[in-house]
Amino acid sequence: MKTCDRSGGHNPLQGLRAAVTGGTSGLGVALVREFLNRGAQVAFVARRRDGIEQVVREYPRALGITGDVSKKEDIHPIAVQILGGLGGLDILVNNASDLGPVPLALLADTECKDFERALATNVLGPFRLTKALLGSLASSAREGLGAVVVNVSSDAAIHAYPQWGAYGASKAALHHLTQIWNEELKSAGVRLLSIDPGDMDTPLHAAAVPDRDRALLKRPEAAARELADVIAGSLPMRRSISPYAVREVCR
Ligand SMILES: NC(=O)c1ccc[n+]([C@@H]2O[C@H](COP(=O)([O-])OP(=O)(O)OC[C@H]3O[C@@H](n4cnc5c(N)ncnc54)[C@H](OP(=O)(O)O)[C@@H]3O)[C@@H](O)[C@H]2O)c1
Repeated sequence: MKTCDRSGGHNPLQGLRAAVTGGTSGLGVALVREFLNRGAQVAFVARRRDGIEQVVREYPRALGITGDVSKKEDIHPIAVQILGGLGGLDILVNNASDLGPVPLALLADTECKDFERALATNVLGPFRLTKALLGSLASSAREGLGAVVVNVSSDAAIHAYPQWGAYGASKAALHHLTQIWNEELKSAGVRLLSIDPGDMDTPLHAAAVPDRDRALLKRPEAAARELADVIAGSLPMRRSISPYAVREVCR
């Protein structure tokens, strides 16, 4: 992967190094595209090799990493490949997610293994991966480049929707973990943000609510732009000239 001018210019994400989990579908692949368009170097993670190869064919500058964030033994190999491939890390988006039981089920009908998988993917995975990458993120913050971790949340983290128990409880835990960690890391210059992208037209949404009119849902590309704007606005001042500034592609 070629290195870019990391001076910032008019684009706060230009030359920064970003990693996205769940980067082969929905919001994740839209973020890979958005970050690349804004001149960032991008690594992404997913479980299925075919999905990764497809994204790399479309975006050859992106680094695809095979791994399962719900598996403890996969976390360090994922972190090593991110840091080896990008040479450090400025932005981490914990986006990969698990719905729990599909079709969605009342808590009384939810199998423990489905709840455990949702917690492992949506809470423990982001916790472990962030922890494994924290040294590099803190180093980036010390260099003045900025360090931002986005944990992708949901309105199900706040509202008590029947049948969304495993997913909602795991997203609530992730949301609170994010708030606490953000307080703890403020002095190190590492920001942690919990962001709800809204209802999007993605495979996850179709699996959860198969009868919803897709035309009413947000495009994941729009959510990716919003999320990238929030990240740009959270970076140190010298990079935050304008979150809407000219897009430059690093070649
Ligand atoms: N869609 C919505 O309406 C909506 C609303 C609110 C919040 N969200 C949140 O937005 C985020 C993105 O959702 P989406 O709808 O874009 O999902 P999606 O289309 O289902 O994509 C999920 C991605 O995550 C990967 N993935 C799943 N489990 C993984 C694991 N254990 N380890 C590594 N990668 C894994 C999948 O690839 P593999 O299967 O190959 O691993 C895929 O790339 C999630 O955090 C979701 O909770 C979505």
